Amino acid sequence: MKITFADSAKTDIVAFIVNKGGELPAAAKEIDSASGGLLSEAMTGGRFEGKKEQQAFVVLPKGLAAKRAVLIGGGDAKKRDDRALEAIGAGLLKANANSGFKSIGLHIADATDAGRVGLGAKLAAYRFDTYFTKLKADQKPSVTSLTIVTDDVKAAKAAFAPLGASADGTYLARDLVNMPPNDLNPETFAEKLKDLSKLGVEVEILGEKALAKLGMNSMLGVGQGSRKESQLGIMKWNGAGDDSDPVILVGKGVCFDTGGISLKPGAGMEDMRGDMGGAAAVTGAICALASRKAKVNVVGLVGLVENMPDGDAIRPGDILTSASGQTIEVQNTDAEGRLVLCDVLWYAQKHFKPKAMVDLATLTGAIVVSLGHHHAGLFTADDSLAGELTAAGLIEGERVWRLPLGSEYDRLLKSKFADMRNIGGRAAGSITAAQFLKRFVNDGVKWAHLDIAGVAWVDGQKEAIDPSWASGFGPRLLDRWIAENYES
Ligand code: BES
Ligand code: MN
Ligand code: ZN
Repeated sequence: MKITFADSAKTDIVAFIVNKGGELPAAAKEIDSASGGLLSEAMTGGRFEGKKEQQAFVVLPKGLAAKRAVLIGGGDAKKRDDRALEAIGAGLLKANANSGFKSIGLHIADATDAGRVGLGAKLAAYRFDTYFTKLKADQKPSVTSLTIVTDDVKAAKAAFAPLGASADGTYLARDLVNMPPNDLNPETFAEKLKDLSKLGVEVEILGEKALAKLGMNSMLGVGQGSRKESQLGIMKWNGAGDDSDPVILVGKGVCFDTGGISLKPGAGMEDMRGDMGGAAAVTGAICALASRKAKVNVVGLVGLVENMPDGDAIRPGDILTSASGQTIEVQNTDAEGRLVLCDVLWYAQKHFKPKAMVDLATLTGAIVVSLGHHHAGLFTADDSLAGELTAAGLIEGERVWRLPLGSEYDRLLKSKFADMRNIGGRAAGSITAAQFLKRFVNDGVKWAHLDIAGVAWVDGQKEAIDPSWASGFGPRLLDRWIAENYES
């Protein structure tokens, strides 16, 4: 769906925001009188009171430019934060996308609100329906354009531009997470990264031969049972205009996680198509940064593998030598994400000098138990980084919640045979996973780990802004975090 901005527009649907208990906005007065007061009638004739999530639909008489008018509840004007603005745009799209009409014109009094309202509308318009072959015309959205009508078009465009770029990143992340694992595997994912070069991103792909040469045997071990070649994707966005040290983003890209020889139970295993949610978040973030030409150097690294049971697969008991030289006893082949990330983190620090480094991973089921679907787990020893990420999450509505690290937890990783084992036991599963990663982070590196297993996808009833299985969590948070803290 296309979003444009204008000071007037001729559209099929014309929409107005009405505050709770408020009057018809000035922009609606003309249509109200031209229609013989139908909009005023809609304000009083039913239950519409301008409350959040309410909408009133009005059939306009022949001869008017628009065919329908929609009044959207804006709720309490004083309490209208960014989430509420997004919900207005999202609710409008959700209710009218399949109306049979093509264009919507939404009147907004304060042009700066256009950014968040437009973002909500755009995110709500997301569809992942390419695999449905039998959709009839009336099962597909009819609305193809939203015009935000406001006096200060320039201010509205400026407010939307960066958010629109972040929405592009969210779309990309959603597509990647939603895609089925036969079509999105380490090789095809790597191929997709190359599309980012259109935006000016430098993309490099390392296959198994190169990874073996680097000694990345821990990551390679995970992909060893797969017919698909493991890949390290490197995306460089050099927007600072100098060679200053980059911010580093690292993503877990397990395109499908069967658990390997420590096979997962069958029920629900199909969800593990989303186990590359960290890599999707990083890819989406790079897309967002490049789309808005962010003045910062950022490198995104994604470890792309498939965790399959096979005659060649790693076994419980195998000892892997990671690229850092540290040895790992694999006690459970289903704790594979950390085996991938440890080598990618090593690569990041070997080849770059991170200003800050954040990894994202659908790492543990335990984080879903701890935090459910509304916060990602945040692990860091750096209080300032914790503050930066928490604040960015609150601004964008992609929230994180900090959990502790500590040497008591690290001790649980002790192995009889090697430097460490890849599981910590039943207790504190998300924390021991984070402790495992920490062993591969050099002293002095400003690092955080985000466990996004609970937020990368959600089944069931959700907000209008989050319409598909995949949420696309990450790009907006990362883009905001970088914009607020690392951009010149
Ligand atoms: N990809 C899973 C974690 C996961 C579980 C993500 C549920 C999303 C929803 C990860 O690779 C995994 O299997 N973790 C194990 C670790 C355990 C073996 C220590 C887990 O959480 O059970
Ligand atoms: Mn696993
Ligand atoms: Zn996994």
